[in-house]
Amino acid sequence: MTRKRLNDPVALAKVIEQSSGPLYDLFLAGNDGRIHRWHHYFDSYERHLSRYRGRPLRMLEIGVQYGGSIGMWAEYFGDQATLVGVDINPAVSVFDGMRPNINIRVGNQRDTAFLASLEAEFGPFDVIIDDGGHTALQQIETFNFLYPAMTEDGVYVCEDTHTSYWDGFKDGGTDVTFIQYTKKLIDVLHSPYHRENLFLSRYGTAPADREGALQTYRFAAETHAILIYDSMVFFERRPRAEPFHERR
Ligand SMILES: C[S@@+](CC[C@H](N)C(=O)[O-])C[C@H]1O[C@@H](n2cnc3c(N)ncnc32)[C@H](O)[C@@H]1O
Repeated sequence: MTRKRLNDPVALAKVIEQSSGPLYDLFLAGNDGRIHRWHHYFDSYERHLSRYRGRPLRMLEIGVQYGGSIGMWAEYFGDQATLVGVDINPAVSVFDGMRPNINIRVGNQRDTAFLASLEAEFGPFDVIIDDGGHTALQQIETFNFLYPAMTEDGVYVCEDTHTSYWDGFKDGGTDVTFIQYTKKLIDVLHSPYHRENLFLSRYGTAPADREGALQTYRFAAETHAILIYDSMVFFERRPRAEPFHERR
């Protein structure tokens, strides 16, 4: 038998239903065509967000469009959740208060004064989902601004990162994409082990001054894991201690 290789050319199976679980069931039940999501996203959502069901969660979703997904989240998380949906399109205002726990605000995700006003009114957020405009600078700048102000065990999701491979979304130059930025953040996650600075300045985050070895960046100190899925990146927050190992 021929040995399988990682780079064998293969065709993907054509299957519509690609997830399972309560959130996916809500999506499949539909909302008059007002929810727009890729089917394979739901397993990842269930894995990372199910722990918030029935709890007093504060969630921000960037990208409201037809109001379907914010309604789906409200149904999924329950009455104790505070849900905030934002969109650049003023037409989404009609969805403000469509349930008592749904709040809609209009603004640009690249406007940090607008993002700060959301934090002041509703934060700190436990969960943030960026399903907005999906350009590189929107994704990177929104993440840079919002992530440090989240709750210490929160979850940040950047959706539709396949746009990193589509020219129409590269508003910061050909090699500036959220996937490229994520690769850099994987290095930063390991910064407690570095003796050299990592330079993120081109992405808007200035390198910290370092005195001596084994200092680290705030991102590393506050991030437990970066989970990279097809078209989604999840960041799980958790305070980290200085790595320590011993022989016992
Ligand atoms: C993919 S749709 C959101 C879909 C929705 N979350 C759902 O699942 O049904 C993207 C939305 O982002 C909004 N958008 C585009 N650029 C934006 C920006 N710079 N700031 C905020 N929202 C933006 C668009 O108006 C659009 O409604």
